[in-house]
Amino acid sequence: MGIGMTGQERFEQLIASDEKVEPTDWMPEGYRKTLIRQIAQHAHSEIIGMQPEGNWITRAPTLRRKAILMAKVQDEAGHGLYLYSAAETLGVGRDELVEHLHSGRHKYSSIFNYPTLTWADIGAIGWLVDGAAITNQVMLTRCSYGPYARAMVRICREESFHQRQGFEIMLTLCRGTPEQKQMAQDALNRWWWPALMMFGPHDTDSTHTQQSMAWKIKRVSNDDLRQQFVDMTVPQAEYLGLTIPDPELKWNPERGHYDFGEIDWDEFWRVVKGFGPESRDRLAHKVRAWEEGAWVREAAAAYAAKHRKEAA
Ligand SMILES: [Fe+2]
Ligand SMILES: [Fe+2]
Repeated sequence: MGIGMTGQERFEQLIASDEKVEPTDWMPEGYRKTLIRQIAQHAHSEIIGMQPEGNWITRAPTLRRKAILMAKVQDEAGHGLYLYSAAETLGVGRDELVEHLHSGRHKYSSIFNYPTLTWADIGAIGWLVDGAAITNQVMLTRCSYGPYARAMVRICREESFHQRQGFEIMLTLCRGTPEQKQMAQDALNRWWWPALMMFGPHDTDSTHTQQSMAWKIKRVSNDDLRQQFVDMTVPQAEYLGLTIPDPELKWNPERGHYDFGEIDWDEFWRVVKGFGPESRDRLAHKVRAWEEGAWVREAAAAYAAKHRKEAA
């Protein structure tokens, strides 16, 4: 570090040289706010994302599937906790973040506002939703903010297990009876477009992308990530013998990528604004769990206080 450098100069140097910004470093207020918003939204998504899958734990078709699904849903809780901890290093309290989620001031990923109607949805979520999450998150391991980047390394490893277990459920269904294969196709039909929506609006309509890329919080744009996801997933669908529900999907040899149809942006914005099929239930369930768990938080705090007193 140069002697006599201002905080601003030091920050710019860290960004330019691809070094990590740490909690004790000076950072612009906009950088801090952007990170708090993004990390909190990410943490909330992990926590709310436990619900659509948790819905199937009691109905998993075998003991093995049940054990895997429980482990996966617990991983998502863990992801939420690492991320709340990363957000706390930016000077915001966890209770405050949870309050913003409950009041609807903070968003979470719209994908979790869709219902899980059949067991095949658990396969489709692992394959597509966790698959899209990895595509988004691998670049975040190189994010300029140290605590977020480090949390993402472990999260990505676990997400890759999630993606594979989902694909394996789909593969088992596709090799099963015609009815099972039809179930898998139906789940793909319902989850494909919402999965593409996970990458957010087009780059030209995305308000935060440019600044986030300049700060190296985000390393790849929404449209480029979406393209990566499509290119990765189409051969997997072919391997399963399933049809992606997009008549415009076609390999483009000149671009070296798949072309694909336009997302229904009206649906996207409707769900973002809280009018998804399950939006109200997801939030109501979360608030209820928070209230019913108050005694656990109080007991844990009392226990910690007792030990501090004994130690003193
Ligand atoms: Fe996760
Ligand atoms: Fe996951």
